[in-house]
Amino acid sequence: MSEATWDVQDGAIVERPRNVRKHPLLDRIYERHDELIAEQLPAGRTLEIAFGQHMHPQADIGLEGWPSNAETVHKPAIAGDARTLPFADDAFDAVVGRRFLHHVPPADRPEILRETARVLRPGGRVALLEGTPGLYRKLTKGVAFRLGLLAEDTDIYGHLSEDAVTDLVSESFEIAEKRTLGSPLMLASISESDASARLLDLYERTQFVKWWTFVVGERPDSVV
Ligand SMILES: C[S@@+](CC[C@H](N)C(=O)[O-])C[C@H]1O[C@@H](n2cnc3c(N)ncnc32)[C@H](O)[C@@H]1O
Repeated sequence: MSEATWDVQDGAIVERPRNVRKHPLLDRIYERHDELIAEQLPAGRTLEIAFGQHMHPQADIGLEGWPSNAETVHKPAIAGDARTLPFADDAFDAVVGRRFLHHVPPADRPEILRETARVLRPGGRVALLEGTPGLYRKLTKGVAFRLGLLAEDTDIYGHLSEDAVTDLVSESFEIAEKRTLGSPLMLASISESDASARLLDLYERTQFVKWWTFVVGERPDSVV
């Protein structure tokens, strides 16, 4: 059963997400994503927005809308809202944000990208990962709910298409990288059994099924 508890704050869905470490395949996938993100980020001071229960190894500090998530990571973290970042201009070299834009009302999302650009230095980079909508996600989630593997659906705003994520990022950044990440094995990632971790190789070879969109933006010299 999912452990998630959640609330809506100023329209944003804040929550205690699933503990990734209890789901061996998902845990390995997160590690893989950490590597892909690290390849794209400049070294230096790094912020992760809406880290949930997992912060990138390069992150120096995290910001979360569900304050007690800070207790689950062994890094400095503060409670806050991604729409008004409590940091100075040019404070970071890199910002990471995974699976959270879809938790914020669509009208507020451009402000998150503007805020991210503001706290990044020129040439700094943002790496975003967002769930992709579609029939495969619908079917997978449907099966997971039916099997009782997921308790509640907090995705009340739906997910963002690849184009929607790219358009949002390109309003404030130059696109440095864009790719699809995914696999028909995502249902197996819900399993808490160790056997599921052995599917990682197969996961790597089946990225053609869209599950996430990965977009990296580079901050231009001046921001709007
Ligand atoms: C689906 S979880 C993803 C967590 C984590 N990034 C991951 O990939 O596992 C979405 C997270 O976004 C956080 N969140 C939602 N809206 C937020 C906001 N406006 N500011 C900060 N955090 C927010 C929630 O509390 C939740 O932890």
